[in-house]
Amino acid sequence: MEKLLIRGGKRLKGKVMISGAKNAAVAVIPAALLTDELCIIENLPYIDDVMVLADILTALGAKVDLLPTGRITVKADRIESVKADHEMVKRMRASYYLLGALLGRFGKAEVAFPGGCEIGARPIDQHIKGFKALGAEVEIDHGMVRVHADKLVGNEIYLDVVSVGATINIMLAAVLAEGTTTIVNAAKEPEVVDTANFLNCMGARVKGAGTDVIKIKGVEKLSGCEYAIIPDRIEAGTFMIAAAATCGDVVIGGVIPKHLEAVSAKLLEMGMDVAEGDDFVRVKGIERPRKANIKTLPYPGFPTDLQQPMSVLLSVADGTSIITENIFESRYKHIEEIRKMGANLTVEGRVAVIEGVKRLTAAPVIATDLRAGAALVVAGLMAEGVTEIFNIKYLDRGYEKFEQKLISLGADMRRIDDNVSELNVKRAIANY
Ligand code: UD1
Repeated sequence: MEKLLIRGGKRLKGKVMISGAKNAAVAVIPAALLTDELCIIENLPYIDDVMVLADILTALGAKVDLLPTGRITVKADRIESVKADHEMVKRMRASYYLLGALLGRFGKAEVAFPGGCEIGARPIDQHIKGFKALGAEVEIDHGMVRVHADKLVGNEIYLDVVSVGATINIMLAAVLAEGTTTIVNAAKEPEVVDTANFLNCMGARVKGAGTDVIKIKGVEKLSGCEYAIIPDRIEAGTFMIAAAATCGDVVIGGVIPKHLEAVSAKLLEMGMDVAEGDDFVRVKGIERPRKANIKTLPYPGFPTDLQQPMSVLLSVADGTSIITENIFESRYKHIEEIRKMGANLTVEGRVAVIEGVKRLTAAPVIATDLRAGAALVVAGLMAEGVTEIFNIKYLDRGYEKFEQKLISLGADMRRIDDNVSELNVKRAIANY
């Protein structure tokens, strides 16, 4: 186990390049199972989730080659198994996309139930509703989700909640089905559009991705293709918030500014200077942000994944801010940690009330999930003293070279082995 030490108070300055989108990668890689031909996917983030998926596809029998440059080749011409058991799946949540992809190609799949996590219940009833509407039988037994269909036939599926996962999973299952599938109340996230573009690049006929009605005309066969995935808007947003939080001046490059509009708008409202170019945004911070209210919503609303880092920034704002978390009810686990750093927040159900304080002070804190980890890094960058962040395995799941990128912008941080004795940790902090 490793932990991060961050000496706060350094202004971030310079340019950072953003990696490929994690949430697109975890959908596009399983989508390569839909053909027996070679798929080449570029611009992937080299993160744990992607490595785990490469392992899972290999275990199923696919020929997979993942390079640290963010390129994967997948040839699924000799799949031996359609089963991903708990041991494989527990290492990443979005393994549910294996269900849609394997069902679409082979008419069957068996994948361990993803289960809840630190940010809420995370049911998959809408995924299942979609598979059933296409004619699949779905059975949940001993923690496994088993789907089976002699034949998949297109249908109209109305999603009761706007779900990124269900929208993508139904697309994966429907591209090779007979006839037309219509997803109504579909998620509009850029990662949904990216997956649809990849599927179309393979020869699928998906229309309307990015709107709330997606139509998928089934085709008989998909072919291999070469595709580069979109930049990670959540990673970009995290750096925008980190720049603002350190009163920095950072150019965040290799992005699609349109995907960042909700964050840009909030930072502007808080008094930051945000400028947009064709493929970059530049954020200049101010001494103390103004208060702001935030409601997380499906895209193009403010993303739930950035609520946690944003709440850290608001914890030092001038005035009282209110956050309403509409997507995941328990996405407030980081709050207990930032309270240790002097933040003044109260949570009642989905609403957090943040009374801005003048400064945060360093403390030992624990990352409880991926974006909570990112939030604590932002807190550490702002705080007086050396913050210790434990459980940073979550960060490695979702951010490529996070520390290296921050250090290149001037952050003072380092990773140390968590097994070193208390005394040595104290020495490391004292000498740091
Ligand atoms: C994806 C993202 C995650 C992001 C979330 C919302 C990936 C790998 N993860 O997660 O980073 O925070 O979108 O933008 O892309 N729901 C149901 N039934 C279902 C499915 C979802 O009730 O069958 C609910 C969820 O509990 C949640 C809401 O719908 O309240 C949205 O969830 P969803 O969009 O499905 O999130 P994920 O795809 O899991």
